[in-house]
Amino acid sequence: MEYRELGDTGEEVSVIGVGCWQLGGNWTGMSRKEAVRAIDEARSLGVNFFDVAPIYGFGEAEKLLGEVVSDFREDIFIASKVGLRWQHKFPPEQRDLSPENIRWEIEQSLKRLGTDYIDLYQFHWPDHNEDIEKSLEVARELKKEGKIRYIGLSNFSVPEMDRANEIADIASNQILYNALERNPLQYHGIPLEYRAEREILPYCQENDISVIPYSPLCQGMLTDKFDVDNWDEDDVRNANPKFSGDWLKICQNRVSQLKEIASGYGRPLVQLAFNWLRNQPAITTIIAGTSDPDHVRENVASLEWDLSESDLDKIDEIVSGEPLPEEGC
Ligand SMILES: NC(=O)c1ccc[n+]([C@@H]2O[C@H](COP(=O)([O-])OP(=O)(O)OC[C@H]3O[C@@H](n4cnc5c(N)ncnc54)[C@H](OP(=O)(O)O)[C@@H]3O)[C@@H](O)[C@H]2O)c1
Repeated sequence: MEYRELGDTGEEVSVIGVGCWQLGGNWTGMSRKEAVRAIDEARSLGVNFFDVAPIYGFGEAEKLLGEVVSDFREDIFIASKVGLRWQHKFPPEQRDLSPENIRWEIEQSLKRLGTDYIDLYQFHWPDHNEDIEKSLEVARELKKEGKIRYIGLSNFSVPEMDRANEIADIASNQILYNALERNPLQYHGIPLEYRAEREILPYCQENDISVIPYSPLCQGMLTDKFDVDNWDEDDVRNANPKFSGDWLKICQNRVSQLKEIASGYGRPLVQLAFNWLRNQPAITTIIAGTSDPDHVRENVASLEWDLSESDLDKIDEIVSGEPLPEEGC
């Protein structure tokens, strides 16, 4: 395993992490038994970073992760989130970074995870109705109380990060970023107020803040098993407007060209997606979501090889072709 420093915290986290949304049961094909094996397998391969959130499975993902890691809790990094209130539907309609809500949510998360502390506590989405200074003040108090170790952000723009970083030590920003979505305008129809590659990466690199790319496999599109016609009825990806219409067609064409490059190395597409990401600036840990132990092994095996400079250039050409029709998605 390769490890990289999280922000300027001095903590080393594995460059391949695991995204635990899938543990919540909102994705096609999740089996609880396999999910438990996937977390164990990840740990035995040196993965120490597990990303989760209260909303994943409406509390179920935190519960399951907490159960599985209880025997080796201190050896790993749990990254959870705060600030999305949910009423059992996705996407949630309410952001809430009020001090009262943060105080309430941390207790719920600690209980579900069965732990006394969360290593990285991330503000899930900016909440424009709250004064960020007050939200961060509570986060700093939680740090002093030992309930969290580091503060992270998610989906924050550069001006918002800049303001936050003046008030508290910010370790990371988690953003939508993958080889098909380099400067995406929206996520599940929610407008994004940042341009990932153009703005966030250079800012984070300059300020020693980790970038944690979410949906690094474009919700499975950068794998060989993506099958948009065979998802369960309640699969969260059915609520992603990109997976229909022109965006999908253009990206399918890019995917087939990327597959050819991967097959030149005798490797699956998913490993190309990982290796492209870990060659980008400020990327610290790549949290592909999975509940499958074989996929964990395959993802970690991407570290056995690397892309050549000329193939990195070729990928750049492929993914910066025709502009993507994202507006209105
Ligand atoms: N901060 C935010 O706002 C935010 C938003 C979205 C996600 N996230 C975080 O980011 C994590 C990852 O993003 P994501 O879950 O949206 O999408 P993703 O990681 O891009 O893709 C997940 C999909 O890829 C499949 N997959 C993983 N490894 C594979 C392999 N080796 N071969 C074939 N298929 C593979 C998974 O299926 P299997 O389960 O079958 O492996 C799953 O269907 C989430 O789990 C969550 O922790 C954060």
